[in-house]
Amino acid sequence: MNDNKLTSIVGSFPSTRLRRLRQYQWSRKMTNENNLSVNNLILPIFITSSEKSSYIDTMPGIKRYTLNEAVEVACEAETLGVPAIALFPEVDDELKDPYAKEALNDNNLICRVVKKIKLNTTNLGIICDVALDPYTKTGHDGLLINNLVDNDKTIDILCKQALVNAKAGCSIIAPSDMMDGRIGKIRAHLDINGFENIMIMSYAVKYNSAFYGPFRDAIKSGSKLGKDGKSSYQMNINNSNEAMREVAMDIQEGADMIIIKPGMPYLDIIYRVKEKFKFPTYAFQVSGEYSMIMSAIKNNYLNKEKVIIESLSSFTRAGASGIISYFALDAAKIMRG
Ligand code: PBG
Repeated sequence: MNDNKLTSIVGSFPSTRLRRLRQYQWSRKMTNENNLSVNNLILPIFITSSEKSSYIDTMPGIKRYTLNEAVEVACEAETLGVPAIALFPEVDDELKDPYAKEALNDNNLICRVVKKIKLNTTNLGIICDVALDPYTKTGHDGLLINNLVDNDKTIDILCKQALVNAKAGCSIIAPSDMMDGRIGKIRAHLDINGFENIMIMSYAVKYNSAFYGPFRDAIKSGSKLGKDGKSSYQMNINNSNEAMREVAMDIQEGADMIIIKPGMPYLDIIYRVKEKFKFPTYAFQVSGEYSMIMSAIKNNYLNKEKVIIESLSSFTRAGASGIISYFALDAAKIMRG
């Protein structure tokens, strides 16, 4: 390095000033790397068969909607430009049994709401969860045989459940059960029944997380899980190499999109998965994350608009193609201004 150059570096120490670009609003805009948009949002909706909607105690501001209200919320999502909704039923206790029979009733709550939303919207993706937890007495995602959720027998039912939902008119099947091999079997079952265009959005990486607690309150599925909970099928919270294997398997079996869940505590997984597979990858900002943030907002500890956008932007920055979030409508309104 010649002397002149050295002098100039020393003279203007530090020669690189990252704050230069942060000086003005316009220069911050010019150098912005990540834009969250309404296109990235998916709204989860809880539905009840009761005559009246009810607030969920552990999710401030979130309701289990009646069928008609759910249709209104879906229409609002469509109007705001949210591309898709995900439906979760609270099933009457007397309809639950060890075999999850109600899941296969083609006139069950989910099918009724799917049909009605389809009739009332024109440009909205409808995602149906495939798993048995709303329908089993224990709240487990599959059939309990000798105290263990049986993988293959559960898949037989999941295939039928997926077909029932597809026939009702949903556009995306989202298996959230974590059985091994279910994506391939569900794909084949949909295909042979003429539903080769129904998309599969696999909950490929689903951790055995404490953050699902409020969801289980919402659909009343949490109280009889037993002391090991869902640890024999949902992933160990400490593992990330295993997440890569889960994703590889589901892609190989025909998944169109994958979900990583929970969201914010697992941003490292979203980043790793997106880097490696370059696949449509979605984050689920789950119930416990919502409740944590919302409680702080309610206490005026955090600024509502800013924290919602910041939490959602963390996902797109990590590489997520979109986010399933209970804040989807709030975020859409905030971004619209
Ligand atoms: C059930 C299911 C769960 C969630 C989505 N589908 C909970 C669970 O596995 O017990 C969690 C969503 C949330 O917490 O918001 N298959």
